[in-house]
Amino acid sequence: MHGRGRPCIHVFRSGAAFLRYDGRLMFSCRTDWKLAPNRFTNALDEARAPGSELIDLTISNPTRAGLTYDSAAILDALKNPNSLEYDPQPKGLLRAREAVAAYYRDHGEAVDPEKLLLTTGTSEAYSFVFRLLASPGDEILVAKPSYPLFDFLADLQDVKLVPYSLIYDHGWQIDFHTLEQAVTEKSRAIVLVHPNNPSGSYVSPPERERLNELCRKHNLALLVDEVFLDYAHDGSHAQSFAGNNEALTFTLSGISKISALPQMKLGWIAVTGPGAHVKPALDRLEVIADTYLSVSAPVQWAASTFVEQRKSIQAQLVARIHKNLVGLDHRLAAQRLCSRLQVEGGWYAVLRVPVTHSDDELAISLLQHKRVIVHPGHFYDFPQEGYLVLSLIAEEDHFDEGVQRLLNFFGDTELPLSDQQR
Ligand SMILES: Cc1ncc(COP(=O)(O)O)c(C=O)c1O
Repeated sequence: MHGRGRPCIHVFRSGAAFLRYDGRLMFSCRTDWKLAPNRFTNALDEARAPGSELIDLTISNPTRAGLTYDSAAILDALKNPNSLEYDPQPKGLLRAREAVAAYYRDHGEAVDPEKLLLTTGTSEAYSFVFRLLASPGDEILVAKPSYPLFDFLADLQDVKLVPYSLIYDHGWQIDFHTLEQAVTEKSRAIVLVHPNNPSGSYVSPPERERLNELCRKHNLALLVDEVFLDYAHDGSHAQSFAGNNEALTFTLSGISKISALPQMKLGWIAVTGPGAHVKPALDRLEVIADTYLSVSAPVQWAASTFVEQRKSIQAQLVARIHKNLVGLDHRLAAQRLCSRLQVEGGWYAVLRVPVTHSDDELAISLLQHKRVIVHPGHFYDFPQEGYLVLSLIAEEDHFDEGVQRLLNFFGDTELPLSDQQR
C-alpha cells in the first residue's frame, strides 16, 4: 500500500462497506450490490439443515435432475488430440461454428458460419453484445417479468435496463404501448427471450413483424435469447430469429439448455440483418472476442458432439415437462384456490395463488411449513403479488409431491377467497 495512506471504511446506502484509501473508493460503483442474503435465502439456509428432506421445485441445473446422459460420448469428445494445438480464432473454430449452423439448419434456417461467434455461454454473449451496442448509460429494453440475471449483466457493462411489460390475457403478449413509450434517444436494443423465462411465451409472428418495424424506425437492434427455443410444449418448432434479416439481430443460444450441458460452457451469437449493419457488427464483435479468446479448445472440438446430444436429452426433458404439466393440471383441477398461467414452452410454470401475503412470505412459509422450495414471483419482476414459479424439470415423483404439499398449504390455511376467486 505504498503511498496510499490509511484505509478507512465507507458505508453505502445499501449498507455495504468498502475500504477506501486516500479518499479513493477501492471498488467500482458498478459492484455496489447489496450482497447480504435476503429473507428467502436465509430461510433456505435454515431449512437446509442436515437430515431434513426438502422438495426443490426451483431446480434449473439439469445435471442434477436425474437425466440419462451419454457419458461415454461426452467424455470421449473432450479427448480430441487436435485440442493439444493452440489455434486462436476470435470467432471460434470453424468446425464448431459449422456444428452450430447445422443446428439452425434443422430449424429451417440457413445460418452462415461466418456470421456466428462462439462464447463461453449465453451470459457472456449478452456481455459482448451489450459492449458492442451501448456506451455507458445507454439503455436496453427488457421485458418484465423476465430472467433476473439481466440486472447483473447490465451493471457489469454499465448499461441501463429499461423495462417494457408483458401482459397476461389468456396468454402472454408484448405490451407495445409500454415498449414504444420506453424508447428514448439512448435506447440501443430490445431484448427478447424466446420463449421467455419464466412466462414460457414465444414471440408470435405478428409481434416479430412489429418489433422489426420498431427497430428500423428507431435504429435499434434485437437481442434474442433462444436458450429454451426447442422446448415447445405442443411439440411444434417455433421459428428462430437466426434467419431474421429485417433488423440488426443478435440471436443468442448455447448448449447449457439445448443439450442440458451448462458445465461445458459453450454458447454463441448469430448476427443477421441488413448487410450494412451486419459487417461492422461482426468486425467489432470479433475484436471483443479476440480480447478474451475465452472458449477452450477441447470444448470447441467437442462442439458437434455436444450439440448432437440435444436429441436424446431434449426427448427426456420434453417427456418430463409434459408429464409434470399434466400432473399439475390434474392436481389443480381438484381445488379452486390456485391456477396455472398458460405456458407455451420452456422449463417453468407460473402459478397464480391467493394474495394473502407477499410472494416472499408465501415462499418462506411453504419452505418452513411444507418443506417445499418455490420461487416467489418478485424474483422475476411480476408486476403484482400472487405468483409463484415452479420448475418443470424436477423429477416426476418430486414434482408431484411438491405440488401436493403446495396445494395442501393453501387448502390447509383456509385462506379467505379474494374477490377474483369468489
Ligand atoms: C433465459 C436464459 N438465458 C440465459 C441463461 C444462461 O445461459 P448460459 O448458461 O448459456 O450462460 C439462462 C439460465 O438459466 C436463462 O434462463
